[in-house]
Amino acid sequence: MDRLRIRGGRALKGEIAIGGAKNAALPLMTASLLTDETLTLEHLPDLLDITTLAGVLEQHGVEIDMNGGGSEHGRTVALTARRIASTRAPYDLVRKMRASVLVLGPLLAREGHAEVSLPGGCAIGTRPVDIHLKGLELLGAEVELKDGYILARAPKGLVGAEVVFPKVSVGATENLLMAAALARGETRLINAAREPEVTDLAKCLTAMGARIEGLGGDTLVVEGVARLRGARHRVVADRIEAGTYAMAAAITGGELELVGAEAGQLSSVIELLTEAGVAFAETDRGLKVRRADGRLAGVDAMTEPYPGFPTDLQAQMMALMTTAQGAAMITETIFENRFMHVPELARMGANVNVHGASALVRGQDRLTGAPVMATDLRASVSLVLAGLAAEGETEINRVYHLDRGYERLVEKLAACGANIERLEG
Ligand code: UD1
Repeated sequence: MDRLRIRGGRALKGEIAIGGAKNAALPLMTASLLTDETLTLEHLPDLLDITTLAGVLEQHGVEIDMNGGGSEHGRTVALTARRIASTRAPYDLVRKMRASVLVLGPLLAREGHAEVSLPGGCAIGTRPVDIHLKGLELLGAEVELKDGYILARAPKGLVGAEVVFPKVSVGATENLLMAAALARGETRLINAAREPEVTDLAKCLTAMGARIEGLGGDTLVVEGVARLRGARHRVVADRIEAGTYAMAAAITGGELELVGAEAGQLSSVIELLTEAGVAFAETDRGLKVRRADGRLAGVDAMTEPYPGFPTDLQAQMMALMTTAQGAAMITETIFENRFMHVPELARMGANVNVHGASALVRGQDRLTGAPVMATDLRASVSLVLAGLAAEGETEINRVYHLDRGYERLVEKLAACGANIERLEG
């Protein structure tokens, strides 16, 4: 298994191109199941998760043409589901990636039935799909769980309804949005997720002929249409990738221009980091980030649904706070068990105490390099940040987690002066 070796202590300087958002690209790809015409996605990131989902979609009958050109600014990919070859998403594909459950809404809406393996447990908590299923039932689907599979049927088609989500769920909002686009009549999604990736999906569906109102708000109203057509859509910038590199600049005391980053989607992050002593400036190409003089100050962070501080930046924020002056309380309200990076950061000299859903970080003068290992994507990248700032050598195992969600991470960091390399085997 490949490893990363980082020799820390170098301030990052230069520019980093921000790719298309993984979490927008995945639902957008599944939207191709809703039409027999071609959906062309531009600025699609080149990531392991994208390849995994492409495998799921191919076995449903989607033809995927990756030859639409590519550059460091992402690829153009054409997806065509002329006919659905299979409505079954099998366990061995779904278990690799939870987002595969997003095929459920589109398959059910188009074919009237779908059989999708339950995604199962995952490293960051139990993560059930009950909200997805309840919502689809309200649209008239009959749902049964059998032999580890979700069996969903709507023999007479889906019918619009009012769905009040008991909890904000990004995936459930996306599944319901896609299902409602082809349902008969009006669907109201109340307490919907407002994440920019949800809005990006709504925009793409609109370009495909869907009728959706309330984009960006917590109530989405969908007037179902009989069919959707092909469209061309550019994937929104990855705010989590941008936030991660902003923290890389801050933790190393460097200065980076994040080309293509959209400041408007990072308001809560920018606000908090500014308080900690990070300076931001919008440029015509994106966002410049540098640590204002001296050490950062400890600031408290609590994860919340958008527009609050994202859970997908919680681990990176914790890494940043390990070398700040003073204490920082980091509270995770979205996922249980999302502190697996804590013992690994501790191996590098961080002082962190976890009490339930909160972690108290007492900033240290310095971190020291160590061999570490991570169990999920964002935890892994928090160790990269810590390694960039630490004295000496850090070796990070299980690099495949990073391949799932960070495009050309080693190249991007090395081009800005980081001493980082990938060791094979
Ligand atoms: C998406 C993101 C993930 C991010 C998360 C929260 C993708 C591919 N992944 O995941 O990176 O960390 O949003 O911003 O976009 N829940 C239930 N029942 C359900 C569904 C969710 O109880 O049926 C709970 C979850 O366990 C969690 C919370 O609701 O506690 C939010 O989860 P959700 O927004 O659904 O996350 P995902 O869509 O899986």
